[in-house]
Amino acid sequence: MVRHMFSHLLLLWSLIHDLCITGLTYDEPKELSWNNQNLYSVPLDLDASLRRLDLSNNFIRQLHTLALQYLEQLDLSSNQLDFISEGAFKNLARLEELNLSRNALNNNLGSNSKALQSISRLRTLDISMNGLNDDAVERFLRNKPSLDQLKMTGNALTRLSHNLFKESKSLRSYYYR
Ligand SMILES: *[C@@H]1O[C@H](CO)[C@@H](O)[C@H](O)[C@H]1NC(C)=O
Repeated sequence: MVRHMFSHLLLLWSLIHDLCITGLTYDEPKELSWNNQNLYSVPLDLDASLRRLDLSNNFIRQLHTLALQYLEQLDLSSNQLDFISEGAFKNLARLEELNLSRNALNNNLGSNSKALQSISRLRTLDISMNGLNDDAVERFLRNKPSLDQLKMTGNALTRLSHNLFKESKSLRSYYYR
């Protein structure tokens, strides 16, 4: 009798479990975290339906074209990023939040700034702690009509001129010290 009940319970449990799993994979936003995994490059074969990707706290130095058309949030903070290829973000039509804090983006400014200029839907950007000067920040902020929050603390900024923000007119808050 007890054994019988137990097997019924098991069956019920596995049914509920299956339901939860299929339910989850069905509507939850897709996200993947590779935080702190000793990565030296972006993993290949990422799921093309990802909406959030966390690659923070690794040793990634270069970023090349990502094919993640649904991606909304990308965290690359605390890596060693010093080269972003010009077209790296060109397929990320939905990207709204980008965290590039604690990298070395003051190198290869030509391609890094072209890459940054190509993402016009951005709402939140963190470029703090990258050794950037006024000129570099100005170039990074071009073509940012939707930018709402900006963090750029711990760089080599000497002045906040109007020029800096002339292409980011939606900006509501920024932190620079
Ligand atoms: C970016 O990542 C750092 C941690 O590496 C975090 O402290 C910071 O709050 C993040 N920025 C935003 C805007 O979320």
